[in-house]
Amino acid sequence: MAEFSKGLNLQDIEGHLDTKFIARKIYYFDRIDSTNLKAKEIGGEEVEGTIVLAEEQIGGRGRLGRTWASPRGKGLYLSIILKPDISPDKLSQITLIAAAALCKALEDMGMEGKIKWPNDIILGNRKVCGILTEIAFKSNKINHCIMGIGINVNLDRGDIPEELRDKAGSLKIFTGKEIKREELLGRVLNHFERLYLPFKEEREISKSIEISRKHSLLIGRNVRIRGESKEEIGEVLDINEKGELVVKFKDSRIEAIFSGEVSIRGIDGYI
Ligand code: BTN
Repeated sequence: MAEFSKGLNLQDIEGHLDTKFIARKIYYFDRIDSTNLKAKEIGGEEVEGTIVLAEEQIGGRGRLGRTWASPRGKGLYLSIILKPDISPDKLSQITLIAAAALCKALEDMGMEGKIKWPNDIILGNRKVCGILTEIAFKSNKINHCIMGIGINVNLDRGDIPEELRDKAGSLKIFTGKEIKREELLGRVLNHFERLYLPFKEEREISKSIEISRKHSLLIGRNVRIRGESKEEIGEVLDINEKGELVVKFKDSRIEAIFSGEVSIRGIDGYI
């Protein structure tokens, strides 16, 4: 496998990998529009677990049509091609698995990340990782899923778009230290496979739910939930066994919220 100066060392990544099928094939791009787009394009022909990894993205995609700032050599920008036999409504469970894997990897490296359900990881009140799960269809059926993960690893404050500086941060800004991207990536992928396999084989996500509850930023907090046409305030009670957010609204109604149905904003500030 080739080694790229100043870029990610792919041999080093391999040295950290302990997986059977995740990242056993890596497409590495020095610069790309979006790893998610590339993974969508090639996913039909590739084996499950293949990843697309880039040093820089010039069209990094975020949720809800936003962009994802992806400066060169500072972050981790990757997409994992997955082929689970699931219906689209189970997609949010894969996002939850990725969020749990990210928290476990950060924990291994001494950082206590919090999950802002469903797809953000927060460290020190700033978003440091985002997950964008997408589906590629073929003849109206799911062909493959793309698990896009962006981690702000060694970004300095100046690398973060000015308008996001009160909301977004990086592992380096939080810890004051450079983080080894290869080690972090290996750990994320190892945890992801461990949590994803039982889901793929038996739809089992209890371990991911347990991690999501333990690291939840929202449980016990008041949040504002934005649907397509309305906005409601409620208290988050739990994450249920399906990975949904259980919320008690002002009128005492209790509902389980699906990922993708709503966007959630904290009342007090940035989230
Ligand atoms: C979000 O929080 O809005 C999701 C951000 C996801 C960003 C990652 S970076 C790698 C992959 N490729 C993309 O274009 N987006 C995802």
